[in-house]
Amino acid sequence: MKRNKEFANRLHALSPRFAYIPKEDRFLMDPGPLKYRFNVIGAGVNGQEHIAVTMLEGRCTVHGVYDPNPSSVEAARRVKARFSDEPLVVYESLEAACLDPQVDALIICTPNHTHLEVLKVAVQSGKHILLEKPMATNIPDAYEIWQIAQNYPKVLQIGLQYRYKPIYVEAIHEAKVRRSLGEIKTITILEHREPFLDKVGQWNKFSKYSGGTLVEKCCHYFDLFNLFAESRPVSVYAVGSQAVNFKDFEYRGERSDILDNAFVIVEYENGVRANFNLCMFAPMVYEEIVICGDEGRLKASEGVNGQAYSRWANYLEVIALPDRTSRTMTPSYPAIIEETGHSGATYHEHLRFIEAMDGQPSSAATAEEGFWSVVVGVAAETSVRRGGRVMIGELLAENGLGHLA
Ligand SMILES: NC(=O)c1ccc[n+]([C@@H]2O[C@H](COP(=O)([O-])OP(=O)(O)OC[C@H]3O[C@@H](n4cnc5c(N)ncnc54)[C@H](O)[C@@H]3O)[C@@H](O)[C@H]2O)c1
Repeated sequence: MKRNKEFANRLHALSPRFAYIPKEDRFLMDPGPLKYRFNVIGAGVNGQEHIAVTMLEGRCTVHGVYDPNPSSVEAARRVKARFSDEPLVVYESLEAACLDPQVDALIICTPNHTHLEVLKVAVQSGKHILLEKPMATNIPDAYEIWQIAQNYPKVLQIGLQYRYKPIYVEAIHEAKVRRSLGEIKTITILEHREPFLDKVGQWNKFSKYSGGTLVEKCCHYFDLFNLFAESRPVSVYAVGSQAVNFKDFEYRGERSDILDNAFVIVEYENGVRANFNLCMFAPMVYEEIVICGDEGRLKASEGVNGQAYSRWANYLEVIALPDRTSRTMTPSYPAIIEETGHSGATYHEHLRFIEAMDGQPSSAATAEEGFWSVVVGVAAETSVRRGGRVMIGELLAENGLGHLA
């Protein structure tokens, strides 16, 4: 019955179709006692996604938010109200939101350049923390966060949740558990998508706030490279430019300076090579991974065709040597979960967060993994700016971290 109950809880309990069922008549749809209360710091598009997945998942709730922008707070209120009659608490200060004794965990979804300063206040609470990616915009701040996490007695998870998109869950399983590809030699990821959206304060149009496109957005893909390679990056070579997007965008007297296209090549200590192809002026949201090992090749893709307003089915193929089976599949989660955002990856990141809070082992991104995803992103941005290949050892030494090389 446990599995029935969990399934019903998560998918139906909050559906407006069943709102008429009185509390005392709920059995399958009773999510059980409330497990944990979260506060969300930063209630923009990502904070709202965290509120929606928390409430949909049903075992925890979002108690309150802190955000200096009143319309973000209003939007957060509306999201919680879709799922619960309990009012959303709105805090007047970051400290008040972090230190409220009614709350068990904090979810930090503020702009990238604020992560370290917000985290320093958050860790005073001793509560569990989910910190959004990229954990920082530069290597010294990312290192400081990694060090904070090492000595932190509670969970400090990083929001690198692409590993929970259905295509990557299956790709990781094929490559690492079934070992269908043999020894991995090369990895290719392509992301072709629409331009960055508007943000509160337009922080994502400026490298000094976001870390640059290859840190802000692409840390997700560099985290996947690092996961599949299972090795440390040695060098990064990248070219790119601001070819189309925001070339005439000015905000408070400053011109946007972010890349909208790039090719990045990463070489790993164990000989694995990875390359990444980014275009952010494509009329779609599409990503693809190709992994070649000495015993097989995997290709997977997902996307939304913004022109035809149709979704391409998730797709994954493993083409193996002739002595074993090859296969194709269409990995997915239930639609209600995928529709919460990022193909359901944020929902599954929350499941891992709750398990970690329960003291169970977790496959979620650690601060150490977050650090190395930022290192590759910063190296790529540096390579575009300076020209030529960036040696990771030298970059770490320039940042006072030669001992990590
Ligand atoms: N994991 C993912 O795939 C994913 C997706 C989107 C965004 N993000 C990350 O989430 C974070 C927020 O991005 P977003 O898209 O929601 O941006 P956004 O601009 O939509 O929202 C950011 C919110 O933070 C608020 N804010 C700014 N400074 C604050 C502070 N010091 N304290 C509290 N609130 C503050 C703003 O008023 C705004 O409401 C970024 O780090 C971004 O990279 C991650």
